[in-house]
Amino acid sequence: MKITIIGSTGQLATDLIKVLQDKHEVTGLTHQNIEVTDYHSCLILKNSHPDAIINTAAFHKTDQCEEEPLKTFSVNAVGTRNAATISKEIGATIMFVSTDYVFDGSKNEPYKEDDTPNPVNTYGISKLAGEFYTKQNPKHYIIRLASLFGVAGASGKGGNFVETMITKAKKNEPIRVVDDMWMSPTYTRDAATTIKKIMELKLPFGTYHSTNQGYCTWFQFAKEIFKIIGLDPTIKPTKTHQLKMKARRPRFSALKSVKLPKYGIQMREWKEALHDYLVEKGRIHNDQFLE
Ligand SMILES: NC(=O)c1ccc[n+]([C@@H]2O[C@H](COP(=O)([O-])OP(=O)(O)OC[C@H]3O[C@@H](n4cnc5c(N)ncnc54)[C@H](OP(=O)(O)O)[C@@H]3O)[C@@H](O)[C@H]2O)c1
Repeated sequence: MKITIIGSTGQLATDLIKVLQDKHEVTGLTHQNIEVTDYHSCLILKNSHPDAIINTAAFHKTDQCEEEPLKTFSVNAVGTRNAATISKEIGATIMFVSTDYVFDGSKNEPYKEDDTPNPVNTYGISKLAGEFYTKQNPKHYIIRLASLFGVAGASGKGGNFVETMITKAKKNEPIRVVDDMWMSPTYTRDAATTIKKIMELKLPFGTYHSTNQGYCTWFQFAKEIFKIIGLDPTIKPTKTHQLKMKARRPRFSALKSVKLPKYGIQMREWKEALHDYLVEKGRIHNDQFLE
């Protein structure tokens, strides 16, 4: 397949390129190559005659999205519309990377693909708009991910949670992490591998959840990071309302796929994925103990 990836320097796209390029002709487009908010700039998508376009571009600093709704909608909704429109014109499949933040978090058990979205912040609303625009191309995949960690780090966020925790611990900074917000930590390499399978097995078009299995609070996630790498910083649980963040966040946004297992695709547990991430990042050795 000829696959074009938008946002190629990003955290997820870096792993997508790694896993896809062994079997496919992959063209990566950086932000310098393409501005998704500008339809004319998006015409570059036609140049490589792709069979599929994967759109990973996003403005996803959740709190900043509340202050910059125009930019948020411009990138996550209008930009997504541009990519979807052009993909349809050239008969290519479009894949849009979406988020657990399309849900409101009131369910208390992992959200499945057919649960009804009800986003509670500007970022989530704009991504849901992006989902609707993506559906204008009948040949579409919407892949919902959550709480990503990958070796490249999110360019839009300046790293990832795992690296932030390790840096703080090494500087002996006091660490406070919320213990009342649940999510599914997800290794970008595992998400990329699943995306590859979805495309190669030509799964029916539609929406899929692709997160590592299980869920935890951000506090529990931090504790596990320190346990695996053998650091023992002072870390205190805190409550979301104490952080006075600009954006409301879903209290419980863990995802689960009921569709992928039907095709033999099962993602592993987040703790195992975290261990492998820390090996890949060079933080621990491969034979280091994992309980
Ligand atoms: N990170 C998470 O925890 C998380 C969770 C759930 C879902 N997601 C979704 O997963 C996707 C990938 O996330 P990620 O962590 O890999 O993000 P990332 O590292 O920030 O990568 C996004 C990429 O898109 C590019 N980009 C941003 N705005 C653009 C624009 N207007 N036009 C063209 N390119 C643009 C960025 O380039 P520059 O950096 O040069 O601007 C970057 O290469 C996103 O769609 C996000 O909404 C992420």
